[in-house]
Amino acid sequence: GAPIEVDLDTISPGEQILITWRGKPIWILRRTSEMIQRLRISDLEARLRDPLSQQDQQPPYARNDLRSIHPDILVVIATCTHLGCIPKFHPETGQMGFDSEWPGGYFCPCHASKFDLAGRVFKGVPAPLNLVIPPHRFTDHNTVIIG
Ligand code: FES
Repeated sequence: GAPIEVDLDTISPGEQILITWRGKPIWILRRTSEMIQRLRISDLEARLRDPLSQQDQQPPYARNDLRSIHPDILVVIATCTHLGCIPKFHPETGQMGFDSEWPGGYFCPCHASKFDLAGRVFKGVPAPLNLVIPPHRFTDHNTVIIG
């Protein structure tokens, strides 16, 4: 498939959209500054399997704590790296019976894998790898080209 251009103007801070690229579901999340701060708490890193995305094939701009080109915009394939279910978006902290230190992120209902708001997988869950960042670039801050 050809690259697709997506206009991000309609995404409010703290919200995400779901689009399709090459038959794959893709989320684009506009993180708030408070969400970005949560991702940078250093004791979060100790709970993650691969905080800097060293283990998997990832674009270079995904090998950092936010896994993004712009700190606020996360572009990520919405497929669990365990067996491919679509995780649920749970951006609030301490929600829904998760441990009280749940920092917000994505929860896969199939076998309870957990990912943070950068798609980084937590230790101790079935999913082996972080959620995958697709190749993308920006033409301006509110326009992204995926593919
Ligand atoms: Fe997501 Fe198994 S498919 S935890």
